[in-house]
Amino acid sequence: MAKKSDASPQSPANEILREAAEVRYADQLEALKQNDTEEPPTNWHLSPRSVLAYVTGGKTLKAKIGGKAVEVPITRKFFGDDGIVERAIVTLASERALLLVGEPGTGKSWLSEHLAAAVSGNSTLTIQGTAGTTEEHIKYSWNIARVIAEGPRPDNLIPSPTMVAMRKGGLLRFEELTRCVPDVQDALVSVLSDKAIAVPELPDNNMVWARPGFNVIATANTRDQGVNELSAALKRRFNYVYIPIVGDQKTEVKIVQQRSAELLERYNLPAKLSPPVIELLATVFREIRAGKTADGVSLKKPTTTLSTAEAIGVALDAALHARFFGDGEVGPADIARNMVGVVVKEDQEDKDSLKEYAALVAKKRGVKEKAWKDFHDALVEQL
Ligand SMILES: Nc1ncnc2c1ncn2[C@@H]1O[C@H](COP(=O)(O)OP(=O)(O)O)[C@@H](O)[C@H]1O
Ligand SMILES: [Mg+2]
Repeated sequence: MAKKSDASPQSPANEILREAAEVRYADQLEALKQNDTEEPPTNWHLSPRSVLAYVTGGKTLKAKIGGKAVEVPITRKFFGDDGIVERAIVTLASERALLLVGEPGTGKSWLSEHLAAAVSGNSTLTIQGTAGTTEEHIKYSWNIARVIAEGPRPDNLIPSPTMVAMRKGGLLRFEELTRCVPDVQDALVSVLSDKAIAVPELPDNNMVWARPGFNVIATANTRDQGVNELSAALKRRFNYVYIPIVGDQKTEVKIVQQRSAELLERYNLPAKLSPPVIELLATVFREIRAGKTADGVSLKKPTTTLSTAEAIGVALDAALHARFFGDGEVGPADIARNMVGVVVKEDQEDKDSLKEYAALVAKKRGVKEKAWKDFHDALVEQL
């Protein structure tokens, strides 16, 4: 017989692996709301200035939460140019929808989730675009069994996230919009221009109108297989905000540090990732990605993107590795061991990029610095 489980709602076994942003950061959102001095646009939870403060962080606010007076630090969610975030917020308050475009792993989905959480208090009204997305996913569908029994009635209609967002005056997130085929994308044109969905099957009262506050945040990768270009009609209805790969090493180190700490906490794993190790990881990523080292050595670029998201992944894997099979302290060798699978995916030739990096860069630095020697030795062992 199976062991009696201790699955009380509070036990770690019953916690959920990933909470929505508005749940995870509920205290920060509440503190910003209590301190909001400006009037939010209709149906927005926060004023544009407070939405910006939520995304870019840096303040500590006094608030009353659960009847207690507390100080709540607002953490930075999205690292990068604050001007990008400002433009995104302005677009959301405008007639036009927002499209975040950029390479994979640059934080587009992450930014979209936090914007939706701060603006509408709900980031879960989401459509994931795939080649199999249909017009029903975007508009509505029917409970077929009940339609056969009773005919099409409003309560037999299954609303899409779009419809729910329209009725509430909230934000709809549309992930990977360009993966949908053009016909399906076009279903969004009427939603965005008429701000309504017609339900011709219903005899009367067959329009669903959007309330103020309704808008769409879509994301699209520029480097992807099988992407469909947006039609001209849809392009015109979106404001494009380009999300670049993080520009400077200092920022990338900060992102990797903060996000991997948050993720380790979620995995309940106390592992130590020291700043010099994260710096080494960021240096390696940056140099291989650019095909050039800080000291001017040219390298063969791999075909993979090596985004910040992947650097976070390597940091987390290295921490798990150190925790399970080492003493918990993450060293440069743990980084090397967990890097290969990220750089070398389909194309085995990408191995050459790493080999070259080991031979031309890491080895040389290893003569002077032990960290680089450890990194080099572990990397060569994997290749
Ligand atoms: N500029 C950034 N600021 C904060 N986090 C970032 C940034 N870039 C990447 N990340 C992190 O990378 C991870 C993946 O990002 P994601 O939003 O899924 O990428 P995308 O949607 O652009 O492919 C997230 O955990 C996010 O925290
Ligand atoms: Mg994404």
